[in-house]
This record gives sequence, C-alpha cells and structure tokens, in this order.
Amino acid sequence: MANKNNNDVTKDKLEKKVSPKKPKNKEQNNSSKDIILSIKNASYRYSDAEENDYALKDINFDFERGKMYAIRGRSGTGKTTLLSLISGLERCSEGQIIFDGKSLKDMNLDKYRNRDIGIVFQSYNLLPFMTASENIILSMDASGLKIKNKKAKAIELMEKVGLKETYANRKVLRLSGGEQQRVAIARSLSYNPKMIIADEPTGNLDKQTESEILDIFKKLAHEENKCVIIVTHSQNVCDMVDVIYDLKQVK
Ligand SMILES: Nc1ncnc2c1ncn2[C@@H]1O[C@H](COP(=O)(O)OP(=O)(O)O)[C@@H](O)[C@H]1O
Ligand SMILES: [Mg+2]
Repeated sequence: MANKNNNDVTKDKLEKKVSPKKPKNKEQNNSSKDIILSIKNASYRYSDAEENDYALKDINFDFERGKMYAIRGRSGTGKTTLLSLISGLERCSEGQIIFDGKSLKDMNLDKYRNRDIGIVFQSYNLLPFMTASENIILSMDASGLKIKNKKAKAIELMEKVGLKETYANRKVLRLSGGEQQRVAIARSLSYNPKMIIADEPTGNLDKQTESEILDIFKKLAHEENKCVIIVTHSQNVCDMVDVIYDLKQVK
C-alpha cells in the first residue's frame, strides 16, 4: 500500500516535471507552427544500391501551411528522390513522413496523390492534344471527388493563374511554355489540395516568366494558405521563398 502511494507521488511529480514536453505541449507547438508535412529521420536506399549507399540519409524537414519552401541541392544530392518520397511514389527505407498528422505508411498513396497534394513538373506533363480545360477536368475526375460545373471551375482556376477564358478551349500544344505551366498549376489546384509540390517548375522558362509563375505560387501560399514546396537550382526561386532547405551529398 505504502509502496503504491510512493509510486503515485513519484508519478505525480514526474508528470508535473515532464509535462511541458508532453504531447499536449507538442501539439500546441505544432499548431502554432501549423505543420502540414513532416519528414522524420527519413533515409532512402535504392534497391539495387550497395548496403550502405543511401541516396538520402536522416532527413528532418517540417513544412507549414501558408509558406513557400525551396529544396536546394547540387545534382545527385537526392532532390528527386526526396520528391518521390514526399509525393508517395516511393516509401522511406527508414524513418517516416507524416502528412496532416498521419503517416504515409498508413495511407492509400494513390488517393493521397490524387486528392491531398498537387504536383507540378518542369516539363508541365500536360496531354498536348487535349485542351487546357480538358486537362484540368481530367485531374478533377481522377480525384474521384464530386465537383459540380467542372468546366466553369476549370475556367475559374485558369483565371486564377492569369489565363483568360478564351484559353480554355485551346489545345495545349498551341500554348507557350509559360502558359502551359499556368495550366499545370491550375490542374494541380483542381481538387483544392493543401500542398503543392513542384519539381524545377521554372527550369524551362525565361526569367520574366519565371517571376510571374513564382508570384502565383507565392499567392497560393500567402493568400490561400497552401504549403508550396519547390525543388530548384534557381537563385530567383530561393530569393522568393520563406524557407530554404539544403540537401547535402550523403557521406
Ligand atoms: N533508380 C535509381 N537506382 C539507383 N540509384 C539511384 C536511382 N535514382 C537515383 N539514384 C542515385 O541516388 C542519388 C540521388 O539521386 P537524385 O535523387 O536523382 O538526385 P538529384 O535529383 O538531386 O540530382 C544519386 O547518387 C543517384 O545516382
Ligand atoms: Mg533530380
């Protein structure tokens, strides 16, 4: 009996002492930071690589809603590999990635890609023989979400990225690079994801167009509370973002 009481007292004291670091507080920290995605001790080794040959080792990055990030690194530092992990195309060999409080390990990754995150590529990856709005509507369909008035919604998204309604019915192969990237951004927004991931999105564009595209991403982060993550070599991009994460060569 006495023992039990002693234990209780010790436990009480411990709880008081430890409480500032307990989950409640951690949650407060997280919510004040508003983290949407956390990479926790993530490492990745390609299946054909040697035993200790990691493409990424012990990565810890947090990403918040409403902010724009650059992931920067020289060729071979694992930028593409990291994007594959964040976008759920590959799973971490060690560590984990938490999206909106849930580990990607426990999520349906097709659904995650089709609904929770938007992806923008360097080479736009649109279907060239379809119109701009058809490309956007295709992505709405893939999300499986019920979206009313898809064409009107597609036009609304195109206007948001600076494309007039008349572009909606134009085939993608008749659009300039900058216009195609705008369509690709509109497409990535078609199911209103919380996070947008872009792989060298301005790599094929001139400086002026690059700035215009970056302004769109900045607005999405700062005015629509999206988390925007851009993998890049461009100093222009790094000058625009809120946070830069550097990837270093493993070893
Ligand atoms: N499919 C693969 N199989 C084995 N190793 C790979 C594969 N893809 C990339 N790597 C290796 O992983 C490392 C990181 O590559 P990557 O993520 O493409 O870097 P980055 O995009 O920064 O140039 C490199 O050493 C590269 O050789
Ligand atoms: Mg790469």
